[in-house]
Amino acid sequence: MIRPSPIAPGFRPGHHAVRPGAPASSPERKSPPLEALYPEKDAYLRLPPERYTSRTFMQQEWDAIWSRTWTCAGLVSDLVRPGDFVRYDLGHESIVVVRGRDGALRAFYNVCRHRGRQLVAKACGSGSSFVCSFHGWIYDVDGRNRRVTDRELFDPRTLEGGVDLRPVRCETWGPFVFVALDPDAPPLLEHLAPMPELFEAYALDELKLVKDVAVAVDCNWKVASEAFLEPYHTHATHPQIVDSIDELHNQYDYYPRGHSRVISPLSIPSPRLADRTTLTPAMKQILAVAGVDPERFQGTALDVRDALRAAKRRADNPFGVDYRCFSDDQLVDNWNPSIFPNLAMNALPEAVQVMRFLPDAVDPGRSTFHVWTLVRATRPGIRPTPFFGVEPDADLTGATRPPRRRTTEAAPELGEVLEQDVANMSLVQRGLASAGCDVIRLSEQEGRIQQLHAEIDRRIAARQAA
Ligand code: FES
Ligand SMILES: [Fe+2]
Repeated sequence: MIRPSPIAPGFRPGHHAVRPGAPASSPERKSPPLEALYPEKDAYLRLPPERYTSRTFMQQEWDAIWSRTWTCAGLVSDLVRPGDFVRYDLGHESIVVVRGRDGALRAFYNVCRHRGRQLVAKACGSGSSFVCSFHGWIYDVDGRNRRVTDRELFDPRTLEGGVDLRPVRCETWGPFVFVALDPDAPPLLEHLAPMPELFEAYALDELKLVKDVAVAVDCNWKVASEAFLEPYHTHATHPQIVDSIDELHNQYDYYPRGHSRVISPLSIPSPRLADRTTLTPAMKQILAVAGVDPERFQGTALDVRDALRAAKRRADNPFGVDYRCFSDDQLVDNWNPSIFPNLAMNALPEAVQVMRFLPDAVDPGRSTFHVWTLVRATRPGIRPTPFFGVEPDADLTGATRPPRRRTTEAAPELGEVLEQDVANMSLVQRGLASAGCDVIRLSEQEGRIQQLHAEIDRRIAARQAA
């Protein structure tokens, strides 16, 4: 049973800290409030729905964001050997990232320099060169043109300016390859700060990919992204999990350049529940996995979190993970960063779900919601948390790269929780396009959505002023 109002008098979600007084050196430290970064934030309490439906606004986003800043193009683990490549489609652009014979990663526009045909059709692969299927021009994996078919029949002036592939900025952080179409973008790590430092304990480059799903969704990229910027929807969209998540007492952190984080306490019942003490089957399962017999457990549901933390702190813990790098809160909470503009995660010590939200080439009402699930090596039998939706028979060793599944909203193949999120997406988009939707209203629990829009507008204004 859900209580009518679980909000304690004076409770302010924007000011709540999971560990009040955490020192500045602690990864838990609470950020300054949103207004410290965005004094104009109250202009974003209400948003016009055209921000999700207008082609003019979509073009402004392209000009100020997608064509300017760093976005994640793929995984380093797909680019290990010389000649390994991945194709990355961003809006109307297509980029190829490739490992050179010299070991360097490079990125190029996926465009033949003859008459502009896209060069690479596959999502990923490996080869010693790229051959354009139209007239057979060939490019080395370092981007240099190796053959202009029938070169002697081109007037030399035609080939002036060079016929090598056009390069794109390419840098890495942990397991991720990023590209920036703007040659003047700041270095990647400068753009990402302070997120790499905050997530250092998770050693993301040690994780193995076990699931790769790209869902075509009928909604603007921000509708999909915003599903993971606020935990306010949890009790209504995911009622089956409120026995094991306190979705009210989150810590919201706001960082420069549009990045943010929410820390969500897990393995604790929601204050929305009238009964917060009885152990539910899900909570018993959490205890059992931690090596605690739920039938002999002396505590209530409110004590499960401490029992789980204590189990993980044992050197011989049943998970088989060395948790020494993780803080007490990281052991049990969901850390959810949003890296501007379109990369988010649900990070637990044992597994991390990575999400990308990719705009369509032409339609503001369409996007791709892409999910990679990465796991750490654990004892046999330890599976990622059920809400990550990894199938029971999935290989968790990382020995074989899982194929990318391309799915639809009708059958996303993401597991129950993410599928509930997906089920909202096209319905939100259709509502936003209706004459019945005059304005979007954001609560204090949706401050990260305010930040996203404030940051977009700052960048659009800076672009227009340039
Ligand atoms: S367009 Fe590529 S060879 Fe002609
Ligand atoms: Fe959700």
